[in-house]
Amino acid sequence: MKRIVVTGGCGFIGSNFIRLMFRTYPALQIINIDKLTYAGNAENLADFEGDSRYQFCHGDICDAGFITRTLQQAPVDAVLNFAAESHVDRSILDSGPFVQTNIVGTQVLLDVCRKLRIPRYLQVSTDEVYGSLGPEGFFTEETPLAPNSPYSASKTAADLLVRAYVHTFGFPAVITRCSNNYGPFQFPEKLLPLFISNAMADIPLPVYGKGENIRDWIHVLDHCRGIEAALMRGRTGEIYNFGGRTEMTNIALTRLLLQLLGKPESLIRYVSDRPGHDLRYAIDCSKAEQELNWTPQVSFETGLQETIAWYQQNTHWVEHIRSGEYRSYYDRQYGQRLA
Ligand code: NAD
Ligand code: TYD
Repeated sequence: MKRIVVTGGCGFIGSNFIRLMFRTYPALQIINIDKLTYAGNAENLADFEGDSRYQFCHGDICDAGFITRTLQQAPVDAVLNFAAESHVDRSILDSGPFVQTNIVGTQVLLDVCRKLRIPRYLQVSTDEVYGSLGPEGFFTEETPLAPNSPYSASKTAADLLVRAYVHTFGFPAVITRCSNNYGPFQFPEKLLPLFISNAMADIPLPVYGKGENIRDWIHVLDHCRGIEAALMRGRTGEIYNFGGRTEMTNIALTRLLLQLLGKPESLIRYVSDRPGHDLRYAIDCSKAEQELNWTPQVSFETGLQETIAWYQQNTHWVEHIRSGEYRSYYDRQYGQRLA
């Protein structure tokens, strides 16, 4: 591949993916389309400014004219859609932007890519489309779709559009579905970066309910390597699940974080549960392992320690975000002012 388009490249996973692709394919050209919402941060890729391989296009994936012009500039080998409203709690406060970006934005990308005959399309999706598990079992690619939050419902709708375009038009798409990511550049509204940055500032860590919900954690680089493998080797129309085989209750993870940071457990604050809170996510990723020759490589212990170190070394990045819009979101979500 000579040139790819990444949408949402200024977010957490998109920026890590662009960095990985430049490392792995030094001659690749990457166009990054990003609206720079509250979650998008051009600083995440500041080191590529002025690099002739990298082009940033500021705009909205819902804007068909803008997407068409951007994709017509030069031949494009693949479009990867990372752009999304991505936080469950915000989708509970207001689902409007989720329907717009996650569903309408995907439909616009599909139509433009189809019209311009882009040879490859990859939809970055989530295990949350499968709903919630009880104490046993794993999500496979065959698990029925049963989304529970407005976020996961919008991601499911997008996946179904992709499926329909493959079926109806023979559109050359692949879907990937991954479990909870952690790593550098994650916006501190998600559990891990929120709790790391609160603990570093000696602010209480708001654990929803009893902290018994379970997530399957995967390092963002393992997710990005999976996306790369699906892009290069995935079969059209197929879905590939990625997970880290690291299940943990939220409270066990919170205690581990506090221990690694040398902070007291008295910072734990149990707060009202998230409405409709999914109990457990766990991924069976054997299809990706067999077909794509992919497997998660980063151990949770090493990955978590490196992630904590990254947040400790990048306090400026965190402080920059934890001002302005973030403070009003925090007030609204947690009924508490950030110190
Ligand atoms: P993020 O919120 O950190 O970043 C999203 C990016 O999309 C931001 O840069 C934002 O500016 C951009 N964006 C939003 N709306 C846009 C629009 N209308 N047009 C153009 N750009 C827009 O999200 P993330 O955690 O990096 O997630 C990336 C993708 O991976 C999402 O599709 C998400 O559903 C999926 N995913 C995330 C996780 C996870 O644990 N974070 C797990 C599985 C799948
Ligand atoms: P989150 O990072 O929002 O990811 P997702 O909901 O998409 O899995 O949340 C991870 C888990 O942590 C989830 O069970 C909700 C819980 N959680 C808290 O207990 N407190 C918080 O402040 C947040 C943001 C999440």
